[in-house]
Amino acid sequence: MEVKLAQCAGFCFGVKRAVDTVYEQIESGKTIYTYGPIVHNEEVVSDLEKKGVKVIETKQELLEMPVLSEDDKGTVSVIIRAHGVPREIYDILDKKNMDCVDATCPFVKRIHKIVDKESAAGKHIIIIGNPGHPEVEGIMGWCNGSVTVLETPEEALEFDVPKNTKICIVSQTTYNYKKFQYIVEIFQKKGYNDSVANTICNATEERQRSAQDLAKEADVMIVIGGKHSSNTRKLYEICSRECAQTYFIQTLDDLHLELPKAVRLVGITAGASTPNKLIEEVQNYVRINF
Ligand code: F3S
Repeated sequence: MEVKLAQCAGFCFGVKRAVDTVYEQIESGKTIYTYGPIVHNEEVVSDLEKKGVKVIETKQELLEMPVLSEDDKGTVSVIIRAHGVPREIYDILDKKNMDCVDATCPFVKRIHKIVDKESAAGKHIIIIGNPGHPEVEGIMGWCNGSVTVLETPEEALEFDVPKNTKICIVSQTTYNYKKFQYIVEIFQKKGYNDSVANTICNATEERQRSAQDLAKEADVMIVIGGKHSSNTRKLYEICSRECAQTYFIQTLDDLHLELPKAVRLVGITAGASTPNKLIEEVQNYVRINF
């Protein structure tokens, strides 16, 4: 029997880079904070907590922290996670004399640069994405003028500013490409003078595509990820369609596998917040026990 991991599974490039940054920073001996949980995975966050990493949950919490004295300067590092933050947060950290370790994903950083430049040139920025998502809040915080966040085509249809307004459209990195294109067309039909930057990251799509490819050939599929993680649920849905015997597990304890002798290939995939360690554990368990 063969055990195969989907080509793209688990952390995307940006999240892996951010998590690795935290572990590297622990070695520095400084007091380490992350601005928001570094990844939506309780085990990773609690492992970091055990190693002394604290989480600053809100801007208010940061504002209430004391300003470090000249002697204490450089003793505290705050790590910015892959989603990025508004420019204002960097300014606050600077005023607090705290070191900022920027683990913003380069793909998100690119959006910050675009909206910074285009809004400084007088364009109205349109962000297509979820207004409550920290990534979108971060992008908004790099706009120098007017900005609108839209999540649906209906909202795009309702959008109305004077026709001579120059607009610049960007997208949240995880937004659906087809929907993005559709919304862009709505703007173009409305006759706006627009510039469009496709800022969608293909990590999500790649993960889904490789899960589907593997599920097609596998006799059994195991999907690892948080119960509340929407991208993991989506993977489960995709795999179930292709492979009738698909399991959704959070940790190895949830796995109660029964494998008939005829099973030749067990496929494994994992959601975006699932650490490698857990994926390896599941892989090894299946390899050793069956
Ligand atoms: Fe991940 Fe960066 Fe893409 S955080 S989903 S690689 S934009």
